[in-house]
Amino acid sequence: MGGNEFVVVANRLPVDKVGDHYEVSPGGLVAALAPVLRSRGGCWVGWPGDTSSDLAPFTFDGISLVPVCLDQDDFEGFYEGFSNSTLWPLYHDLIVTPDYNQDWWERYVAVNEKFARATAETAAENATVWVQDYQLQLVPGMLRELRPDLTIGFFLHIPFPAPALFQQLPWRDEILAGLSGCDLIGFQRTTDEENFRLLTTNIRTGTFPISIDAEEIEQATESSISQLRTSLGDPKHVLLGVDRMDYTKGILQRLLAVEELLEEGLLDDVAVVQLATPSRERLGHYRKTRREVEEAIGRINGRFGEIGRPIVHYVHRGVAKDKLGVYYSAADIMLVTPFKDGMNLVAKEYVAAHPDGDGALVLSEFAGAAVELNQAYLCNPFDLGSIKSAIVAATEPDPARMRAMYDWVMEHDVTRWAHDFLEAL
Ligand code: ADP
Ligand code: F6P
Repeated sequence: MGGNEFVVVANRLPVDKVGDHYEVSPGGLVAALAPVLRSRGGCWVGWPGDTSSDLAPFTFDGISLVPVCLDQDDFEGFYEGFSNSTLWPLYHDLIVTPDYNQDWWERYVAVNEKFARATAETAAENATVWVQDYQLQLVPGMLRELRPDLTIGFFLHIPFPAPALFQQLPWRDEILAGLSGCDLIGFQRTTDEENFRLLTTNIRTGTFPISIDAEEIEQATESSISQLRTSLGDPKHVLLGVDRMDYTKGILQRLLAVEELLEEGLLDDVAVVQLATPSRERLGHYRKTRREVEEAIGRINGRFGEIGRPIVHYVHRGVAKDKLGVYYSAADIMLVTPFKDGMNLVAKEYVAAHPDGDGALVLSEFAGAAVELNQAYLCNPFDLGSIKSAIVAATEPDPARMRAMYDWVMEHDVTRWAHDFLEAL
């Protein structure tokens, strides 16, 4: 037993160990939870992102961190295998086919046990433990056995699929049993919660759409915005995409939509900026996605760009937060076109960067964010025509729509999300 009254457990720590230094970890979960822990206090149990370290607990940026170390077999079986080649595609409605593999499942069980043990040693008597996301669905049940005194919450950051899909999973009963160790499970959308409740009604559930630390979004200065636009060739329309390089995000589809609009003369004087953080890079479907995206960018620039003035400006790296703020502020149209997404914080970050009603958000109906940001230019990413129409409509945006969404996001920020969940717990 440890001394922490409030413990967050997530697959990743908020920082990754890269060689001998630390970098902010990728993904929306970390972006949302790090400010919550900084303001509430408490500790964070998670993996430091490499397979070579054996780290002692440490403090980083005001958050107390308890590393759970994974070896190469854990990384391949638990992280790349069961989490990201089985659960990720299954929970995202089979955009690619999940692989079902007994060895990966056994690693998933073993690594969930590691997390449960580390948490049991860290939490104080009667502490509140908040377990996060699909990688750790067995932790609540294991923790309940180890520490019956704890209050245990679980939040699923990604979608929960319809029962007909979930039932494909050979270990579906074990997953439900693991989750039933919770006092409360939170979902992003009511449809996720309803899907889950069709399988079992023995667990308390709720819908808590996650959000951003709205005040942290940098409002860029006029000069940094105009500098960026100049570097893009001062086009009439700046279109922006910001994603992990993941097949769920529909990056290729938005590029194909732009390509067709250029071909048909329905869009001109345009620059597209695509920022894409590298993600899960050894997995075949991720390699294929990157290859297809980069091929499309090359083709579009070859067809429609000029020397020194490409159409698509592409960065395959993480970008610092202050720089990201300038991209958001400078973009006339934000393109968020996932085939399926638990929430999509990028959509909310863009809205928070536009307090004056300028800018326009093109948003997939299949992103959780579409429930709240229903004033966006909604599109169906499976239908190129629909993405194209939304982009064309967004070239003449209505400021009232952006203002309404801005007010919503400012009121429903991540502090409120955490408060609502923890109050219910
Ligand atoms: P996911 O959790 O699936 O990655 P989200 O849109 O919910 O998707 O969250 C992504 C987070 O990562 C956001 O906070 C966004 O600002 C950040 N992000 C995405 N791409 C980049 C990038 N190229 N550079 C820096 N941050 C990025
Ligand atoms: O919920 C989205 C999420 O999958 C998080 O669980 C995860 O930490 C993040 O995206 C980034 O993915 P990864 O940790 O596999 O790099």
